[in-house]
Amino acid sequence: MKEKIDVLISEKEVDQRIRALGAKISEDYAGKEVHLICVLKGGVFFMCELAKRISVPVSMDFMSVSSYGDGTTSSGVVKIAKDLDESLEGKDVLIVEDIIDSGRTLSYLMEILEARNPKSMKLCTLLDKPDRRVVKGVEVDYLGFEIPDEFVVGYGLDYAQKYRNLPYIGVISVEE
Ligand code: PRP
Ligand code: MN
Ligand code: MG
Repeated sequence: MKEKIDVLISEKEVDQRIRALGAKISEDYAGKEVHLICVLKGGVFFMCELAKRISVPVSMDFMSVSSYGDGTTSSGVVKIAKDLDESLEGKDVLIVEDIIDSGRTLSYLMEILEARNPKSMKLCTLLDKPDRRVVKGVEVDYLGFEIPDEFVVGYGLDYAQKYRNLPYIGVISVEE
């Protein structure tokens, strides 16, 4: 099986968009602190780059919620593999994700986290595939790019755990 990757969003475009998102977040959270929550593993590259572009004080925590196995389609099963270390009580929380696909992961996660009494909770995602949404009610506050229904890798996104480290977003096709 041969895997082929075509660039969908270049490294430069991703970097510029992240800078713009960082500037907007800094403006919106002026005078406050923002508590970033990374959804592992996919959200890690985006969160690190985004955090560097935010000028208000930032704290970070990590959570692992998985809905996919190693394939390219959702199993529909969401499980917590690692919970947050810190309480969310009274914090201005910003969840950082790499992609929203069916919406199952975020819908489940936001329900759990809302119950922990953050002062506010917003959602930032690098990519959104609105055509694939199954669960309604997941509202994105900060969006990098809306993309078509293609299997994408890079910038945290994997195919069978590979290609997360690509510095751009690519579309992968697998030929038999
Ligand atoms: C992927 C992606 C999102 C989620 C989106 O994570 O990083 O977290 O799926 O899909 P959904 O909107 O259909 O729930 P995955 O479960 O593959 O784990 P990973 O981040 O470790 O790759
Ligand atoms: Mn993920
Ligand atoms: Mg994955």
